[in-house]
Amino acid sequence: MSDRLLAVLPDDLRPQAAQRLAAAEPVLRPLLAGLYGERADFDAWLGNLMESLGALYSARPPELRALDAQRAAQPEWFLSQRMLGYCAYVQNFGGDLNGVAARIPYLRELGVSYLHLLPFLRPRAGENDGGFAVSSFDEVDPALGSNADLDALTTQLRAAGVSLCSDFILNHVADDHAWAQAAKAGDAEARAMFHVFPDRDIPDRHERTLGQVFPQVAPGNFTHVEALGGWVWTTFYPYQWDLNYANPAVFAEMAAAMLRLANRGIEVFRLDSTAFLWKREGTNSMNQPEAHQLLQALRAIVDIVAPGVLLKAEAIVPTRELPAYLGSAQAPECHIAYHSSLMAAGWVALAEQGTGVLREVIRNTPALPAAATWLSYVRCHDDIGWNVLRAEASADGGDSAARLARVARFFGGAEGSYAIGAAFQSTDPNAAHGSNGMAASLTGLQSASTDEERALALRRMLLLHGLALSFGALPVLYMGDELAMENDYSYLQRPQHAMDSRWLQRPVFDQQRWKHRYDVSTVPGMMHQALARLVRIRRRHDALAANAPRTLLADAPDGMLALARGDRFLTLMNFSGQPQSYALQGGWRDCVAEQAVGGTLVLEPYAMYWLERE
Ligand code: GLC
Repeated sequence: MSDRLLAVLPDDLRPQAAQRLAAAEPVLRPLLAGLYGERADFDAWLGNLMESLGALYSARPPELRALDAQRAAQPEWFLSQRMLGYCAYVQNFGGDLNGVAARIPYLRELGVSYLHLLPFLRPRAGENDGGFAVSSFDEVDPALGSNADLDALTTQLRAAGVSLCSDFILNHVADDHAWAQAAKAGDAEARAMFHVFPDRDIPDRHERTLGQVFPQVAPGNFTHVEALGGWVWTTFYPYQWDLNYANPAVFAEMAAAMLRLANRGIEVFRLDSTAFLWKREGTNSMNQPEAHQLLQALRAIVDIVAPGVLLKAEAIVPTRELPAYLGSAQAPECHIAYHSSLMAAGWVALAEQGTGVLREVIRNTPALPAAATWLSYVRCHDDIGWNVLRAEASADGGDSAARLARVARFFGGAEGSYAIGAAFQSTDPNAAHGSNGMAASLTGLQSASTDEERALALRRMLLLHGLALSFGALPVLYMGDELAMENDYSYLQRPQHAMDSRWLQRPVFDQQRWKHRYDVSTVPGMMHQALARLVRIRRRHDALAANAPRTLLADAPDGMLALARGDRFLTLMNFSGQPQSYALQGGWRDCVAEQAVGGTLVLEPYAMYWLERE
């Protein structure tokens, strides 16, 4: 089958391609045979796939091939403590792609080397889930710029040493994507790209064991479409049609779509909703073995055609399901995976003023294969999902649902909380689905009325950022958090968004706050400068690299977390509103205050220390 790939390559590319094929084909072929090998036309399909990969290989621009070579020589490049991510909506951060390019100096000043721009491809007309309903993978959203603007942006970012990460929404397409339109017009091949059922029989059988992602605004997992004469699978909103990966045409088309984007200079793909790629009756159709086989096959293809590219799994699933998304040494899968449990557990620790759940998450976090890392973060464009923590929240024998519901209520502002947030999509006020809000509002900045309250809120924000920066991961900042931006309520005035409180945390970049970023007499200045300092310290310590060893120290009181990185770096974090003491062994240096410390250290409420061995 590899002949078909090699045949379409120019002579000069063939030896290298043959080498990469020799390494990846023994992995790829059995994976695809496992998924599609039963089909009579499997060999022909595979040959065509290989030829299409060959064409994409030839089309890869020389500068990206050079990048591939550089990264192949240093496969752990993205594990460095010098890597820092930033995530933003194009329209909110820069207005359009050119506006984002104009902000590159700001990103560099912050130390950012990885920029995740939320969906910027042509979305569905009308409501489109913040761009997560894509109608063309080959076209930039005209409201944000042109394909030429994207090419220019990736070139500028690359020159600045910033890798562009783009969402690749591979679980579903918009109901006005060409395939959906053709399916509605009666095209049988297009219809076969989706899961379509003539009546409720099979959907009802699936519904018995399926969960609900948006139980309030998009209940159920199937949508009746008149033009299809039946029900189509829609895990998310009714206008997001799930793709049917049991059909090999879907896999081949999506792999090619991703590589076409890679050839435009996108260096990292955030593979959206990866847990849902394969459906199986009698299960919740998440984390199925075939979903992993599909991702491993995509990885093998990337390793052949564009080995400089990274795949990032967005799978918001319980901790025990997470490591599989990074694969193993024999069967690599994604390079990066969101550690949503770590993120959520940091917030739980604040709400509970105790680190039980957080410690349990850290204990459940296994070491990773080489050249793979967690992604750590404080906030993102989605809600903080509490249900991923079910196992950890009942590790003490208690009722995890009640415990997490309490946390959700806390961030909704109840239970005497300083937080101002919103519960997301809970069908039952006592259940914990998720919580929305900007970090500053959830940590008490918005409700603060005194300098002291503001100082505590800032400490809480820094504490969570300190965890993300020192855990041993690729940390990604969420636009606005570096300036302590608060909730944005303007979505309530937009009828298409008013029912989805995730818009609370999707504000427009605040130019005024940005102007004050060096002024430590202002809140944005305090936040920005303190965060920038942590970033600078992190860059100096290879003990903080993603793959450097991490040990959870058991001798800290419950309100605190003590995390050693190797034997030369120590992070102490007080998640409680009470002072906590910790007895240091030996001499240490406080990296932030730049002074020696030793003996018993008292941590003020929500204080954090980053210590290096003297
Ligand atoms: C992912 C995105 C989320 C979106 C969903 C459906 O979870 O992060 O914003 O709604 O996928 O595409």
